[in-house]
Amino acid sequence: MISRVRVTEEHHIALARQVVRQMAEEIGFSSRDTCMIVTSVSELASNLYFHATGGGSLLFRRIDGDGAPGIEVVSDDDGPGIADVDLAMRDGYSTSGGLGSGLPGVSRLMDEFRITSRLGSGTRVWGMKWKSGRT
Ligand SMILES: Nc1ncnc2c1ncn2[C@@H]1O[C@H](COP(=O)(O)OP(=O)(O)O)[C@@H](O)[C@H]1O
Ligand SMILES: [Mg+2]
Repeated sequence: MISRVRVTEEHHIALARQVVRQMAEEIGFSSRDTCMIVTSVSELASNLYFHATGGGSLLFRRIDGDGAPGIEVVSDDDGPGIADVDLAMRDGYSTSGGLGSGLPGVSRLMDEFRITSRLGSGTRVWGMKWKSGRT
């Protein structure tokens, strides 16, 4: 199970939410976990639209490990990148008058989280959520 959503226009944020919600429900996540996954994707999609010049893409994939299944979320863009990732991960930090709670929120809502960014070449955010709280 794999889906890709390109985010170049504002309405693609809602589309990304819809697509990941359906996948999370198919995997059998609780409504609470589904809500966390959808919220994370919403934040990543809005960052692609508002911060990554030219947008970017989201990938959702079901992962079947030894135990419970999980969902992998990857956000990829060729935008301007983030000068200071540690700073961008701080609650309340925003370069555009936003709430600045998107990235730190995603890192709390997902079970695993990684972000890499290169100034001038883009940003990649990786998140993983396991069914039934497995970490
Ligand atoms: N995909 C991205 N490309 C470039 N910069 C980004 C990207 N995602 C986040 N950022 C930077 O990280 C900051 C923090 O992101 P976030 O926590 O989502 O807050 P907000 O979107 O409200 O500004 C943003 O203000 C922006 O400078
Ligand atoms: Mg944001």
